[in-house]
Amino acid sequence: MSSSSEQSSVYDWDQVRQKMTQSVTLIMGGAQGTGKLAAQQLLELGCPVVIADLNAKRLAATAKEFASYGDDKLFTMPADATNPREVQALIAAIIAKFGKLNNVVYCAGAVRAQRPSLEVDGDEWDLIVNSNLKGAFLTEKAAIPEMIRAGGGSIVNMSSRAGRLSSLFLGIHYTVSKTGILGLTRHIATEFGSQGIRANSICPGGIIGERMTYLMSQLNREGDLEKLAKQSPLGRNVFEKDVVGAILFLLSDLSSFITGAIIDVNGGTLTV
Ligand SMILES: NC(=O)c1ccc[n+]([C@@H]2O[C@H](COP(=O)([O-])OP(=O)(O)OC[C@H]3O[C@@H](n4cnc5c(N)ncnc54)[C@H](O)[C@@H]3O)[C@@H](O)[C@H]2O)c1
Repeated sequence: MSSSSEQSSVYDWDQVRQKMTQSVTLIMGGAQGTGKLAAQQLLELGCPVVIADLNAKRLAATAKEFASYGDDKLFTMPADATNPREVQALIAAIIAKFGKLNNVVYCAGAVRAQRPSLEVDGDEWDLIVNSNLKGAFLTEKAAIPEMIRAGGGSIVNMSSRAGRLSSLFLGIHYTVSKTGILGLTRHIATEFGSQGIRANSICPGGIIGERMTYLMSQLNREGDLEKLAKQSPLGRNVFEKDVVGAILFLLSDLSSFITGAIIDVNGGTLTV
């Protein structure tokens, strides 16, 4: 049996922090929302961060807002995750800038609200499924060889409560894309674990943030947020920082033996 002094030295906190601050993390879809907050918290910790996003204008505003963290820590580049050439160019630029890539957080994706399945056409299906799922595959396909070269790392993919159940609110394409993310993540965890790569999915409930505020105001459904909060045994809605906490945990060595897992961040509204 280990002594209490051995127990208390299980985590070398300096080492946990040092490993994080030496790791380069790409956040795809990080110009706003959860990805942006995750990027900021990593920068606060002193970690090098790359933020990529399809929306160049929004990305430029985020880069300006975060400029005080310094060029040596923050690199931003517009990229469409669904375009393999743009993704390859992004990974090449990261290697040119930092010399390595350790982690990927995939937060990118488009969304459409209140879309009955029979009104979804092929173009809308492609937009939602490609940005939420194909983009994750292409980004991680390009990143994994570099992550292996760097000695391994962590992939965090944003699924959703919709990936565990379904979302009549966000539609069949969203449900399918977020279910697909669980399979993609599981597969990567299994195929690349022996090369030091961990991959996990996060399934948040509806997050109080820019996206939700926009959707609810478009639909005049702001009152629904109160009802949503009451569904949680903890009595409130999910905040971006709740999800960012899970992201930071999965990027750090505190989760070093967790891979292929699904982390629910929903305040107990789904407990299986
Ligand atoms: N907001 C929620 O309530 C909620 C709930 C559960 C899961 N999620 C998931 O969490 C993730 C982050 O959510 P959020 O609310 O912060 O999202 P958001 O809509 O605020 O941000 C998504 C970002 O992805 C970018 N993007 C879209 N398509 C892209 C592409 N092809 N290539 C690169 N970037 C692209 C957008 O420009 C945007 O900046 C998403 O995957 C979302 O589906 C969100």
